[in-house]
Parts: sequence; structure tokens; C-alpha cells
Amino acid sequence: MKSLIDILDLTVEELDELIATAEDIIANPAKYAQACHGLKLASLFFEPSTRTRMSFEAAMYELGGNVISVTGAGTSSAAKGESVADTAKTVSCYTDIIAIRHPKEGAAYVTAKNATIPVINAGDGGHCHPTQTLADLLTIWREKGRFDHLTIGVCGDLKFGRTVHSLINAMSRYEGNKFVLISPEELKVPSYVKKDVLQQKGIPYVQTTDLESVMPELDILYMTRVQRERFFNEEDYLRLKDSYILTVDKLKTAKKDLAILHPLPRVNEISVAVDDDPRACYFKQVLNGKYMREALILKLLKEAGKIQ
Ligand code: NCD
Repeated sequence: MKSLIDILDLTVEELDELIATAEDIIANPAKYAQACHGLKLASLFFEPSTRTRMSFEAAMYELGGNVISVTGAGTSSAAKGESVADTAKTVSCYTDIIAIRHPKEGAAYVTAKNATIPVINAGDGGHCHPTQTLADLLTIWREKGRFDHLTIGVCGDLKFGRTVHSLINAMSRYEGNKFVLISPEELKVPSYVKKDVLQQKGIPYVQTTDLESVMPELDILYMTRVQRERFFNEEDYLRLKDSYILTVDKLKTAKKDLAILHPLPRVNEISVAVDDDPRACYFKQVLNGKYMREALILKLLKEAGKIQ
């Protein structure tokens, strides 16, 4: 695997290896402090980001490497009309690995086709977001100790929420998992996830609009933000944005060992009072994302022959 465009580019064995590396980085950070000495990460973010961009950059610095970044389409030659392909060829001349976030589905794939260095998809439009899934997986692993036989509730914008698409793809590969898809009618998972993943693999799932009625069944509750930037009109966004708000009260019927995840940013989906509940894992998830990105950068640079 030269690049990570889709979470399924990684086998389950490779995911296990990344988790083992991340755990080792957590236990022995000094061992990795010079691992990427002399190498550069290109951090190309053509869409807003706090966690993903900063965690990639922090990851590269913690590995002893350096970072060159573009933030916002307006500050690079993309604003002059340069194609993604030409940007990829150019950036390959200056750096050793690329992390790219772009509003267009497929942009990371085009980058990987044209770059001569490894490319990591840091989110392509409403399509997928594999490194968020790496953060989610390490969190699930650390909280639950397993990836199988879990009832996973995903709640909110399942249509445009790219993190949800990648998470469903990843968790569908483990035995005994069941999905509870909680969304307004208009924001159900796209058919390329429902038909091509869940139905094709015979994974049990239910679709509902009602979070409270399914709460007692869940082992994991993955909340998401309604993706304002992907809506065609503001009225629909305003009508749907507060469809689900997780409160302390609504958690009364939940399992004692529920793990509450959210890729963040949060808008209104989780009341801040929930942050004090020991089941709230979303800030641990933020930190886990940095460790998994370190593990991924190491793996790709090793495979590219840039480090030992
Ligand atoms: C997510 C994204 O960009 O898709 N954020 C993130 O990377 N942690 C989720 C979101 O923006 O709602």
C-alpha cells in the first residue's frame, strides 16, 4: 500500500499493526523522536480543519520530521486554476509524503495517481476520511478491547458525514457487529454504503429516526455534526441541524460501558454537560488520532523506502 485513500486500502492485519505501533509510541515516545529526521510532510488543506491538520503536523514533528503546509484554497495556485494532478506532481518535488484534504470527492485519489510519494486522504468531500477512522479504531480498541460483537449506533448526518462512511466500512469487516443507523429521513446513509457494504456483506443493521428508543442496545454511540457545507440550501440545514442533541438525561437508559465518540467539531449534537460523563471519549479520540497518524506516516515512509 503506497497511499491511504480509503480505509479498505488497509487489511485488518495492517490495522492491527498500526494499533500496535500507536500503542508503542504511547509507551515509548522517545524511541520514535528521530524516526523521520530529515523528511518533510506536505500538509495540503483546501477545506477547514483543526484536528486533522494539526494532528498530522504534530505527528510529523513528534517523529522528528518537518512540515510544509497549504491552508485554504485561496493561498495556493489552486486559486489560479491549477489542477489537483499538477499540484500533486509539484508537491512531490519538495516533500516526502502528502496529507490532503479537499472538498471534491476523489481528489485524494487523483493526487495519489499523480504524485511520486505516498498520499494520505485527510477527507475528500462527503466521501471518506480514513485517518479519522484510525482515530476511531484506536479509541474503540482502548475502550472496548475488541472490534467484534459490538452494537454500533451512528447518529446524525449519515449522508454527508464522511467519517461515518469510513467507519462503517472498517467495522463491517469484523464478526458479529450490528449497526443502528440513526438519522433524519433526508440524511440516511448513501446507497453505496448501505447496498454495497452492509447489504452485500449481510451485516445486520436497522435504520431509525429515534435515538432514545435504541439507546439501551448500544455499545458505541458515534455522534456526528450536520454537515452544513455540503447542503444545497441553508433552509434545509437550519431545519435539520438540531435533529439530535445528546444530553445527560438521554443517557440514563444507556449501558454503563457505552463509549460515546464524535469526530468533532461539535456544534450542538452533544451537550457540554455530557463531557463529564466517563463514557464520553471524544477528546481521547482527538489524541488517539495523533498517535495513529504517527503510526501511519511511519508505515508509508517505510514502504516507500524513505526510512528503515
Ligand atoms: C470531520 C470531517 O472533517 O469530516 N472532522 C474531523 O476531521 N475530525 C467531521 C466533521 O467535520 O463534522
